[in-house]
Amino acid sequence: MAKSQIKTIAISTGGGDAPGLNSVIRAAVRKVKRTYGWRVLGVRESFRGLITGEGNIELTEDSIKGILAKGGTILGTSNKANPFSYPIERGGKLVAVDRSGLVIQRMKEMGIDALMIIGGDGTMRIAQRFHELGCPVIGVPKTIDNDLQGTERTFGFETAVDIVTSSLDNLHSTAESHDRVMIVEVMGREAGWIALYGGIAGGADVILIPEIPFAYFNVCRKIHERQAQGRDFSIVVVAEGAKPSGEDESIVEEGDERFGLPRLGGIGYRVKEGIATCTELETRVVVLGHLQRGGSPNSFDRILASRYGCAAVDMIAKGKFGRMVCLEGDKIGSVSLKKAIEGNKLVDPKSELVQVARDLGISFGDK
Ligand code: F6P
Repeated sequence: MAKSQIKTIAISTGGGDAPGLNSVIRAAVRKVKRTYGWRVLGVRESFRGLITGEGNIELTEDSIKGILAKGGTILGTSNKANPFSYPIERGGKLVAVDRSGLVIQRMKEMGIDALMIIGGDGTMRIAQRFHELGCPVIGVPKTIDNDLQGTERTFGFETAVDIVTSSLDNLHSTAESHDRVMIVEVMGREAGWIALYGGIAGGADVILIPEIPFAYFNVCRKIHERQAQGRDFSIVVVAEGAKPSGEDESIVEEGDERFGLPRLGGIGYRVKEGIATCTELETRVVVLGHLQRGGSPNSFDRILASRYGCAAVDMIAKGKFGRMVCLEGDKIGSVSLKKAIEGNKLVDPKSELVQVARDLGISFGDK
């Protein structure tokens, strides 16, 4: 679709929500209205609105009023609305069907000339498949996990790190008062970014991440070391995907895994059991869970999301489809969707930040 032919674009938000989704929507609508004058549609719940044709809305300057600081997404989202494997009820059972053709047909019927898809790795994979089918799509990288390739930051991550940091600040005083070990389980899937950043900022004593397999006796060694220094409490941050060495699979929480990735969770309680034999200190587990995704985006995420929203609109105008906006250093750029989905971006155990953590005396449970 050439620039001059664009009349209507649509925006969808897919996967788990992240603080800053509304900031992207607001920025995109404002940019469009001021610069290009196109009509903007908001797709309901990821791709569901394009499959059912229901709940989609026109996004005007009026409909985006007051959403900059609002958590979640005004469009709704889902991590179970993959049009290529869409769950429907058939004969009392859930089965996966391909509804991608219907999405393309619906886009034509609704006069959508380009689709801005905001999401994480799963959503970008869907975007790439639509791109391969000839659909004019642009990606915008979102996820608190910060695990998308091709961009230094996904929006939502910095806010999640702030939430972990202030939680650790709060947990310090109660841990210290009771001489306890506090194990704090954080999100991040197979990437340890949230644990690493939140743990350093919140003064953790131990950080366990998927990229560095750990041993329980090393965690205990750190706790004993602190006791020998007269510090009878410790804070252990554990990423939900962390694994003891020798174990290949992360711990999966119960749930419906058929139409999404397995939900991780439970490692915090395993660590509690694992260290029970080697520390006499009382231990408590705190699972921060979805608190990390809720609430208002911080200033960094509002600004990043606004930059992404504006840049994505310009990319549509220039016809740069099949690409995702990204952060390169301090500059906004773009990367092919293909590159963005080439595996997840993980913490490098040899990176400067991991070394800084070690220099601060933080244990990763590997030594
Ligand atoms: O990808 C974002 C994320 O919050 C992960 O960190 C976490 O594992 C997952 O989503 C939780 O998903 P749900 O909202 O389906 O429980």
